[in-house]
Amino acid sequence: MWRLDGKTVLLGVSGGIAAYKSAEVTRRLVEAGATVRVVMTRNAAEFVSPLTFQALSGHPVAWDTFDLSQEAQIGHIRLADSADVVLVAPATANVLAKMAHGLADDLLTTVLLATRAPILVAPAMNVNMFENPAVQANLAVLRGHGVRVIDPDAGFLACGYEGKGRLPDPEVLLAEVRRALTPRDFAGLKVLVSAGPNREPLDPVRFLSNRSTGKMGFALAAAAWRRGADVVLVCGPTQLPTPHGVRRVDVETALEMLEAMRREWADSSIVFMCAAVADYRPARTSAQKIRKGEGPLVLELERNPDILQELGREKGARFVVGFAAETEDVLSGAERKLREKKLDLVVANDVGRKDAGFAADTNAVTLLDASGASESLPLLPKDEVAERIVERVVELRAARARAAG
Ligand code: PMT
Repeated sequence: MWRLDGKTVLLGVSGGIAAYKSAEVTRRLVEAGATVRVVMTRNAAEFVSPLTFQALSGHPVAWDTFDLSQEAQIGHIRLADSADVVLVAPATANVLAKMAHGLADDLLTTVLLATRAPILVAPAMNVNMFENPAVQANLAVLRGHGVRVIDPDAGFLACGYEGKGRLPDPEVLLAEVRRALTPRDFAGLKVLVSAGPNREPLDPVRFLSNRSTGKMGFALAAAAWRRGADVVLVCGPTQLPTPHGVRRVDVETALEMLEAMRREWADSSIVFMCAAVADYRPARTSAQKIRKGEGPLVLELERNPDILQELGREKGARFVVGFAAETEDVLSGAERKLREKKLDLVVANDVGRKDAGFAADTNAVTLLDASGASESLPLLPKDEVAERIVERVVELRAARARAAG
């Protein structure tokens, strides 16, 4: 699991029914290693007891600016200064209005004015309130001030209405906190990622495929989003949920993947080709279920195009990362693919190991770049492998920019 050790998250909780969900957010942040300091509004304390947040965060919870013992113990300026990131969840229409206009009539709004840390707000309220022009105008003002507004989810609301206004899942809020703590090296760039397997149909009920689950490619898409990129994830069939903030394009066959990649390629700056593309497809797909006969069944296969090679003909200034899934001579196979596919970086993946490659939650890879430099990473969760690959891309692009003057 990724960690937030050494980071302080200031969690502002205002008075909406979704305040109960912030208790779980607190628990998850603490589990990830963060120091969590909770500041509540008086109204929030009507929904959830400060004791709940105190028990979960392991720190006293503040809500009253004028309580001398709280001020002596916690200190509102100290709180504002100690934060690496501030998350207001749920953010009520009232708190958003105060923030937009610089009001500071309670501890939370005072701390929000005093902090220099990045601020995230997660509005949660009745759909009609959320859509009210006054609330939307306040959100526009806050965006203009550099506040990150996390869009509420649509669905059944506690007030009985259906619509936009639900506090997103803790998973999403944690992803946003992590993004706020990550440098925006890919801001303004489109990053294209492929992931997962292909399915090549034999008949209406059977297909040829491979063991890729998409985990590695999905982790890369999430890592690129945290760096500030607009991310498009072209993926074969997988069970995985779409990473927050990422646009997903679903395909089945290698030919469909080629077409989707071609469409997204034109305006992309960085490409991670992590999909386990099917090299072959059945020469004929039967329109009816193939019946079993007495003897063996012989299938004729034909080659699929090599997506990297096809698109690589128009590589331009793009930074292209390929993967090399090998079970023997891993590094020499990867070097060959780096040259033949004109890659900037290849991720050599020993897929013969049980704890790495296909389907595993961990991976052990070596990064080889076009200059001949290599870096072997230890066995790590795929999430961290993705982070290290992205870091390497940031370094190599910076070196390329320096060389170009
Ligand atoms: O999805 P997971 O379960 O998490 O597993 C991750 C993974 C093992 C699939 C991933 O880490 C990985 O190694 N992906 C590349 C798999 C692969 O197809 O490797 P390859 O050595 O056959 O291909 C080399 C490169 O060419 C790859 O970037 C591949 O995407 C690309 N390729 C391959 C064939 C083809 N027809 N077109 C291509 O573009």
